[in-house]
Amino acid sequence: MSDNWVRKREILGLLSSEHFVSGEELATQLGISRAAVSKHVDALEDYGVAIYSVKGRGYKLANPISLIDSARLIQSIDNRCFYFDEIPSTNGFMLSHTGELKSGDLCVAEYQSAGRGRRGRTWVSPYGHHLYFSQFWSFPQGMAQAMGLSLVVACSLVEVLKSFGVDNIGVKWPNDIYLNYKKLAGILIEMSGQADSECQLIIGIGVNMAMSEDQGKGIDQPWSDLSALATMPNKTDLVIALQKQLKKDIQLFEREGLAAFKMRWQAADLFYGKEIRLLMGENHVEGICRGVDEQGAVLLETADGTQAYIGGEISLRPK
Ligand code: BTN
Repeated sequence: MSDNWVRKREILGLLSSEHFVSGEELATQLGISRAAVSKHVDALEDYGVAIYSVKGRGYKLANPISLIDSARLIQSIDNRCFYFDEIPSTNGFMLSHTGELKSGDLCVAEYQSAGRGRRGRTWVSPYGHHLYFSQFWSFPQGMAQAMGLSLVVACSLVEVLKSFGVDNIGVKWPNDIYLNYKKLAGILIEMSGQADSECQLIIGIGVNMAMSEDQGKGIDQPWSDLSALATMPNKTDLVIALQKQLKKDIQLFEREGLAAFKMRWQAADLFYGKEIRLLMGENHVEGICRGVDEQGAVLLETADGTQAYIGGEISLRPK
């Protein structure tokens, strides 16, 4: 970790108290000048950290921030883990190192300067506020073997979040996780290699934990976070549990395919049995959502019978 981040992390630790902490107190505790404190605080704000700054009182975090205990994380998993305070994108990092990675390896960051979302969107990734990580997986038989993987990943996320006390969550086809009908977490799977021979997949996951009002303004769809929970999950425990659950579920998927996940998906599907509208570019189709087939396509019961629809550009809206 760079000296720069050691100092900033110390400041964040001191600002985590319930009360305002004056610039002078920070300077004394850290043995640096007040000017240096104010420079670090400004820089933290540039990294998206929401800090209240009140003249005469000092500073205080707008939302609690928990940072990952990288030593404990690395010790707790059987794979390699690359941990960064800042990086353009954890998916990007993994994509540029596929040759050196093994299935299950992780990249975790506290801040992404160019976090990637689906359909070319940006994933809002302020320092420390949320969870951002990517897990590598290699499929020897190519893309065909990985069809439907995003649904498996969504099932893993739901299972783990529920075990941390997050109720009222569900999935929206193909791979969004919703809390109270607003987006809580997103999955972006990127591929390297040939579609028809061994392919390497990067499974990128972002979970909103404690969003500030300002950060939320940068998101163009209804969002949710975990801040209303009685106990906020510990981020280190959460990423450890997710890495293990993902490994277990992807191995099951490799052995048994998507059939093994049909019931789990259905139980979490927010739109199952409901009238929905599928948007496909300029076109749309309406019908009753009947879950997914064994390729991961959404099944729609229409006047012409039940049809399967698949494709990255399809979005799903309640009618
Ligand atoms: C979505 O748009 O729903 C997918 C969002 C995926 C965001 C995660 S955060 C960690 C990983 N690295 C990225 O750049 N994106 C994914």
